[in-house]
Amino acid sequence: MTSDSRSGDTGSRITYENVSKRYAGNSGAAAVHDVSLEITPGELVVILGPSGCGKTTLLKLTNRLYEPTGGTIRLDGDDITSLSPTRLRRRMGYVIQQTGLFPHLRIADNVAVVPKLLGWDKARIGRRVDELLELVGLPPDEYRRRYPSQLSGGQQQRVGLARALAGEPRTLLMDEPFGALDAITRTRLQDELRRLHRQMGQTMVFVTHDIEEALRLADRIIVMRDGAVVQYDTPLAVVTRPADEFVAQLVGSGNVMRRLELLPIRDVVRPLDGRAPRADEATILASGTGRAALDRLLESSSDRVIVVDADARPIGWVDFATVHGISQPGAGIASMGIDDTIVTDADAIVATGSSR
Ligand SMILES: Nc1ncnc2c1ncn2[C@@H]1O[C@H](COP(=O)(O)OP(=O)(O)OP(=O)(O)O)[C@@H](O)[C@H]1O
Ligand SMILES: [Mg+2]
Repeated sequence: MTSDSRSGDTGSRITYENVSKRYAGNSGAAAVHDVSLEITPGELVVILGPSGCGKTTLLKLTNRLYEPTGGTIRLDGDDITSLSPTRLRRRMGYVIQQTGLFPHLRIADNVAVVPKLLGWDKARIGRRVDELLELVGLPPDEYRRRYPSQLSGGQQQRVGLARALAGEPRTLLMDEPFGALDAITRTRLQDELRRLHRQMGQTMVFVTHDIEEALRLADRIIVMRDGAVVQYDTPLAVVTRPADEFVAQLVGSGNVMRRLELLPIRDVVRPLDGRAPRADEATILASGTGRAALDRLLESSSDRVIVVDADARPIGWVDFATVHGISQPGAGIASMGIDDTIVTDADAIVATGSSR
């Protein structure tokens, strides 16, 4: 990777302190009401909630497309009202559903908009454009000279993403960027966004009302209702420990498969206790989920699957009873009552890959 493809050290920290927004002329409730939370540098945070709950408003307050009627937003500790909106927006990429590409500009020039504003020299801009097109899966030789109308919707979203990344922002704001795409293209772009995020380490704030999308993408989810934040936690916690009935309904906490897809098996692995693995027994990584374990159990003929660490060393096993146990509502990992000390370095295992 060249130095150009890094976005600097890591992402920015975003802090909301009692932030409210009431639109002029709107007599009813505030669009955003008393939001206080902190987004950790380098996290991919998804704002989730039903239509009209204030997701877009909160996002637009973050890059000063709107000004709050109360409270303070900080970027790496600085009150954003102390920064000029223009400078602020150059530090934050912004991707929206209707890409907002300039129809009369070629793809390369669309991607180059911010680097040009930043006064980069031609050679550096050219390198950056090619690198970004490559990164979002559009071979530069083929796409550089086309116009937006000569691209599919999914390809245009990729260009929108490349353009938002062009100025090496430490923060990326995205408002339902994949909302208009078909399911297959959407899933592919979600995977690519996760990959990009791992690779580049920006702070990303992603708005959606699609629960599947939120669960697939998020490090943490902000659940909003009527302008307020009702829960801010990991996908696992939001699904297994919803703050209230509204969150439980929204994220489908009662859905067994959904819980299994999120729950890691590493904490419920049973010790081998002398029952050494046989060569014909199926294996699964300790970083796998309950869903992956269930799949392995169903497709293998044996009644247990062997759990292995990142170096393929057997560390225990799980069976149908284990999977059933973690699928039960409220069956938090701690409440399983199973000794989890057999996994000596869970962090290292998790770091080797997640099933999401
Ligand atoms: N420019 C505006 N002027 C007045 N009211 C507005 C404006 N923009 C949004 N609102 C109102 O503020 C509330 C929150 O709107 P917002 O666009 O933030 O919702 P959202 O969660 O993004 O919804 P969606 O999922 O439909 O995009 C809504 O009641 C909306 O009608
Ligand atoms: Mg919106």
